[in-house]
Amino acid sequence: MSAPGSPVSAVRTPVDLPRANRLINHGPTVLVSAMHAGRRNVMAAAWSMPVEFEPPRIAVVIDKSTYTRELVLASGMLALNLPCAAIVDLAYTVGSVSGRDDDDADKFERYGIGRFDGPALGLPLVEGCVGWLECRVIREPHAEAAYDTFFCEVVSAQADARVFANGRWSLRDDNAALHTLHHLGAGLFALPARTLQATRLPAR
Ligand SMILES: Cc1cc2nc3c(=O)[nH]c(=O)nc-3n(C[C@H](O)[C@H](O)[C@H](O)COP(=O)(O)O)c2cc1C
Repeated sequence: MSAPGSPVSAVRTPVDLPRANRLINHGPTVLVSAMHAGRRNVMAAAWSMPVEFEPPRIAVVIDKSTYTRELVLASGMLALNLPCAAIVDLAYTVGSVSGRDDDDADKFERYGIGRFDGPALGLPLVEGCVGWLECRVIREPHAEAAYDTFFCEVVSAQADARVFANGRWSLRDDNAALHTLHHLGAGLFALPARTLQATRLPAR
């Protein structure tokens, strides 16, 4: 029997695009996946954020040294995959080695990373994650060159309904293995375990 909240039985559900920003609003580490001309790759990125509701747009920082950037620039597409506590070692590993060093096996093969095709762009999406955004790059050469920042339009969004439902995260003790990862540095991650519902202060 699988543990409660195990990624084995992900319930992948489409997320309305105007709500897609909610998937990364709380600053989770993402896995950026990309492909071009039969080559594919995946890396970790702690720096991503929503920048527009409609059309849904995001920004992500992808360093010039990365192999992923090569594929993103060549294809004009990328995907953000949201890893969870259950796959923390996978998230850290793909952020610690470069796909450029692969001879005959890419990171997916080398580490046995399951994947499926994105519904809009056919990008390689990572199994075991709890959210997936496929994006088209909006070319901003200055931002890319000066700040390593890529602006993108989200064209498909999905989430695991066990932890994201009705347009928001539902972070509970019984789905802790599915909570997103928040990088503190050097492979140490925090989980967004405690939530607090705010109400508006009454005006005096
Ligand atoms: C938790 C974590 C977060 C990271 N965040 C970023 C990031 O936001 N931007 C970036 O360019 N690199 C980031 N990195 C580093 C890349 O993931 C790393 O350079 C990776 O090996 C690049 O792989 P590639 O050359 O196969 O594309 C991060 C690494 C880790 C472990």
